[in-house]
Amino acid sequence: MMTIFSHMSALAQEHGALNLAQGFPDFPMDARLAGLVTEALQQGANQYAPMAGLPAFQEAISGKAARDYGVGIDPSREITITPGATYALYVAAQTVLRSGDTCIVLEPAYDSYVPAIEAAGAQPVFVPLLPQSFRPDFDRIEAAITPRTKAIFINTPHNPTGTVWLPEDWRMLEALVLKHGLYVISDEVYDGIVFDNRSQHSALQREGLRSRSLVCFSYGKSTHTTGWKIGSCIAPAELTLRYRTLHQYLAFSVNTPMQWALARYLSPDLYAPPATVLQPKRDLLLALLRDTPFRLLEPAAGTYFQLVDYSAVSELPEQAFAEWLTRTHGVATIPVSAFYHDGRNQHLIRLCFAKKEETLRAAADRLRF
Ligand SMILES: Cc1ncc(COP(=O)(O)O)c(C=O)c1O
Repeated sequence: MMTIFSHMSALAQEHGALNLAQGFPDFPMDARLAGLVTEALQQGANQYAPMAGLPAFQEAISGKAARDYGVGIDPSREITITPGATYALYVAAQTVLRSGDTCIVLEPAYDSYVPAIEAAGAQPVFVPLLPQSFRPDFDRIEAAITPRTKAIFINTPHNPTGTVWLPEDWRMLEALVLKHGLYVISDEVYDGIVFDNRSQHSALQREGLRSRSLVCFSYGKSTHTTGWKIGSCIAPAELTLRYRTLHQYLAFSVNTPMQWALARYLSPDLYAPPATVLQPKRDLLLALLRDTPFRLLEPAAGTYFQLVDYSAVSELPEQAFAEWLTRTHGVATIPVSAFYHDGRNQHLIRLCFAKKEETLRAAADRLRF
């Protein structure tokens, strides 16, 4: 079955539409990172990396976690390099879930969580985020917990809503996790993409969470190289051991030259949080949308994405509207209904602003009607 992202991208191509649908940048990556890959190839970093990852890359990730979150992560025992975050999340689900378990999914949710839960023989239990604000509703989350509940998927900064959890959200989660003995699969692929000088937090920062969390990152997202498919999973040593019993027969190891290059690039001298590139793009999109009939929800606090309400334009349900917009106005977007198991309609679409200024301006021109 085709995902909504592939479907909308294919439709965009068919109609020559601007693709604000799928979450990938259309601007070039940092040339210094490309240079490091060339150097890796020339230096002969072309054979298998160790199963858990290139030690220099694991150390660079641990160093970044220490700088960003003030935590000490054991590079060799707690960090596993993966072929992308989708894989990291999938293996995390197989590590902690068993047949008969349930796992909480906060909706709207990224589309890979449910198949990962079901592949483990477990069942998803859906809890909606609060309407409009899309904040986690801890009363409803707790009400959904039963003795079968083994884990919860969380995602912040959040796709598709662009919200970022506040310290009190993390505190509440920690209290729930400790009370009910849950595992947390924390999808932090938009690490470093928070705006307006917000501070970002991680499941790694709270001891009660850290000991029960598998935290998944995507360097494709954080270095604007989504096609590289490189991620990691950080988890306590005992969980990491279990994680690696699966990883060693699924991927075994991840391509060496990219790990070699990223190991050097993640240093404080070279790496800048992706928000430095993305904040001006979000600001530009917000300014451009003011002249359109699309109503902003809150400005995105993080991620690549801005939600807009199209009720002033059409009464079509979300997917039909997104398809119509692609065909007739040449702008592809993603219907938010695709992130709900029941496909509910709220007249919301998701726009990706990780695009060149000219793409954003051209898209806004087509949205002024
Ligand atoms: C919330 C979320 N999680 C995971 C992923 C997958 O990341 P990767 O491309 O590294 O597999 C994405 C990609 O769009 C995402 O938005």
